[in-house]
Amino acid sequence: MSDTAWFTEARYGMFIHWGAYAVAGRGEWVLNRERIPYSEYTAKYVKRWRARKYDPAEWAALAARAGMKYLVLTTRHHDGFALWDTKTSEFNAVRMGPKRDLLRPYVEAVRAAGLKVGFYYSVADWGHPDYPGPYFRDWPKQWPDEERRQRFVQYYRAQLEELMTGYGKIDLLWYDGCIPGPLDGAAANARVKELQPGILINERNGAPFDFACQEQSLKAKAGVWESCMTLNDNWGYHAGDNNWKDARTVIRMLLTVAGKGGNLLLNVGPKPDGTIPPRSVRILEQAGAWLERNREFLPDSSRSPFSWNNSGLVTTRGRRVYVHLFNSPGKDFCLAEIGNKVLAARRLESGEPVAFEQAGDRLFLKGLPRPLPDPIATTVALDVEGDPRPLTEQTTFWVPE
Ligand code: GLC
Repeated sequence: MSDTAWFTEARYGMFIHWGAYAVAGRGEWVLNRERIPYSEYTAKYVKRWRARKYDPAEWAALAARAGMKYLVLTTRHHDGFALWDTKTSEFNAVRMGPKRDLLRPYVEAVRAAGLKVGFYYSVADWGHPDYPGPYFRDWPKQWPDEERRQRFVQYYRAQLEELMTGYGKIDLLWYDGCIPGPLDGAAANARVKELQPGILINERNGAPFDFACQEQSLKAKAGVWESCMTLNDNWGYHAGDNNWKDARTVIRMLLTVAGKGGNLLLNVGPKPDGTIPPRSVRILEQAGAWLERNREFLPDSSRSPFSWNNSGLVTTRGRRVYVHLFNSPGKDFCLAEIGNKVLAARRLESGEPVAFEQAGDRLFLKGLPRPLPDPIATTVALDVEGDPRPLTEQTTFWVPE
């Protein structure tokens, strides 16, 4: 296991789903969903992909403005089209479509921005002759025979080798589509760690890992964990999907995950030209502006021992408790959860002290402005004596998400 210190400190990253499927503009599963023959997919989408305005420095700059500390790009998704100059197949961005390596500028730009470099890699490759096939609903259950399985393992291991040796230091490897098994995951990971000491690997290939993933859910996992979420309802670019989460929802997600000691990997799906949809940009910037004002609660946030309440979310970090208010509770806010003595209370954004009174079990934050000054969330930081602890342990299994 590698040292996860940078990862738990970061807490917030950008997921990027970008590939030839963006040309179709109906999500990254379009080939499978619509049973598009590979000849048609190649002619209509791959060969028409130009990536004309691709500028990963813009992606990295947006991630930085958003308050994110790492990026994870789809080096190859299930369609099998590699964004780099792979020697294992012709189906790659240097030979077809954009006619250049799209991965190298990404790595360089992210590193130049002082952010961590992550590679998403789908082991499954629908189009590979040894893969069970492209059109399963949703995934094949087994390999047609052992010979094909072994050839396929050799193929993806060769791709991983290219990714782990051709681009300098890579901070994170995010496997996906490790189906069907077995896929020699332990051996693959051992080799990856040999080539990239310190790299963090997710759990999706079933072998020893550094962090666990949750997909489209904010439910906590054991150990170091990350939840990946879409900003609308798609990972890959979908031209007609306008079901955007707003900045407030993004911050709520981040607070929810941070309060459970996890990371949020929030997705963008760039357009075929390489630009991130303007709506995504605006939402990330708005959320980022809030985070900039309130970041203190985030790095290495702990698993909060507190339960739920109707006015906001509570996170913890070291000997501090952060009360993030979404719904104005009125002039005073009562938190009847804290078993510690509260030593100080202040508004996180401004540092202004907040009057408080601890009467037995009940902590009152007094004289709060009405309406709450921050339309996203107004945060009050509490210094407490000792490590934050609840008055009573949770006694019910019912805890809302
Ligand atoms: C799923 C999907 C894939 C997406 C991934 C993100 O596994 O197959 O399209 O990239 O989730 O977590």
